[in-house]
Amino acid sequence: MPGRRRTSRTGRALLLTMRLDQFVAKATGLSRKDAKQAISRGRVTVDDRPCRQAASKVLEHQTVQLKDQRLTLPGQRYLMLNKPEGVVSSTGDDPHPSALSLLPPALRPELHMVGRLDLDTTGLLLLTSDGQWSHRVTSPRLRCPKTYRVTLADTIDSVALEQLRRGVALRNEQRLTAPAEVTLLTPRMIDLTITEGRYHQVKRMLAAVGNRVVALHRTRIGEIVLDPALAPGEFRALSDAEIHSIGG
Ligand code: URA
Repeated sequence: MPGRRRTSRTGRALLLTMRLDQFVAKATGLSRKDAKQAISRGRVTVDDRPCRQAASKVLEHQTVQLKDQRLTLPGQRYLMLNKPEGVVSSTGDDPHPSALSLLPPALRPELHMVGRLDLDTTGLLLLTSDGQWSHRVTSPRLRCPKTYRVTLADTIDSVALEQLRRGVALRNEQRLTAPAEVTLLTPRMIDLTITEGRYHQVKRMLAAVGNRVVALHRTRIGEIVLDPALAPGEFRALSDAEIHSIGG
């Protein structure tokens, strides 16, 4: 079972539960089999007591030692990538390369992409090893805002802008979209901020007001803004402030 981290309203980690063998393997780089063996031989202590059950749960505040050496988990990773066109934000069966392939091989195994962008959508894609953090970005209940720069096929009028702001009916869906923020930049370009993540939502919202998206670029997630120094395909680690700006 993967480790689980719960957070308080301030975002502070309260509780980590992870199987002991998984904790030992992650902290030491031992294989799971070798970690289990060390545990069954009584070489691992939890809060100074030998623990021989590989499946027992380790809590955040507990001290785990292997042969008197305190074990700690390696830190989580948080990155932003300027996604170019033509890469997918999934790792499944797809003829196109995954955005993960743009990262050095050593970084890839632990990371997952936070949410999805279409093949032809560019811009801000977050990657992390921290499942709880990515949940806070993607959970519909938490309404983390995402901003897109949208280039349109046709000029957009004030009626359509107002419809987008109030909420529109997407094809084959009953429920209107949640209110959105819209800034008109040019007659064929808007910034649109939405707090939901429905399937192809931006393209379908613009279709619902009789227009068509010709280019879509994500510029912002919550307080995290795509770094203008990143060329398409480039990435960088998030700062502590960026990581902590995603609340819980
Ligand atoms: N909305 C879309 O239509 N496509 C994306 O890639 C993201 C949001």
